[in-house]
Amino acid sequence: MHQTPRQQSTREIVIDSARIRDLPAVARIQREAFRRGLAYSPVALGVLWLLPAATFLVARDAGTGEVLGNLISDRHRGNTRIVNIAVALAARRQGIGRQLIRELDACCPEGDVVLSVETENVTAQRLYEQEGFVRTAMLRDYYGPGHHGYTMKKSRRAGPASVTAP
Ligand SMILES: CC(C)(COP(=O)(O)OP(=O)(O)OC[C@H]1O[C@@H](n2cnc3c(N)ncnc32)[C@H](O)[C@@H]1OP(=O)(O)O)[C@@H](O)C(=O)NCCC(=O)NCCS
Repeated sequence: MHQTPRQQSTREIVIDSARIRDLPAVARIQREAFRRGLAYSPVALGVLWLLPAATFLVARDAGTGEVLGNLISDRHRGNTRIVNIAVALAARRQGIGRQLIRELDACCPEGDVVLSVETENVTAQRLYEQEGFVRTAMLRDYYGPGHHGYTMKKSRRAGPASVTAP
């Protein structure tokens, strides 16, 4: 995985593959970012980190190395699927989520990029829309009773050639 120095308005970050010693920091970010039951536990993160088919990125402060965010993806029906993305509360709205998605786009070119998101999570949906994702379906009760979801997709496949073209 290539290290990608990023200049931010407030801090410079690098995005690279997670190391096993990053997992406790990622677990802390998970607890900040998701309600109980949706946050990945340290054990679940360890399993994902070990999976050969998964890509586990972290964003770090370029100066201190502090882990500020994570993105985990896998392959699903020929597509690249975002399984989890989260940014530390204190580091939000500094472009880190956007850069994690762009890094995934660059390093995992297989198929489209797909994900699911809670209908109430308009913050994440705004980020995804900005990055070119569109809603493709609604998933009733996907996140528990009364917590619906959307599937979203960023299409990276060339569309079919027009059959009416001369
Ligand atoms: C969603 C999340 C990963 C975004 O990370 P982030 O680093 O704060 O996002 P960015 O700074 O890259 O924001 C990119 C764009 O997303 C939108 N956005 C992000 N945070 C926003 C907020 N609080 N309010 C409104 N729009 C927001 C904006 O359009 C923003 O662009 P702009 O700042 O130029 O206006 C972060 O809020 C998070 O960890 N949330 C909790 C976990 C979660 O919901 N994960 C997604 C599950 S599907």
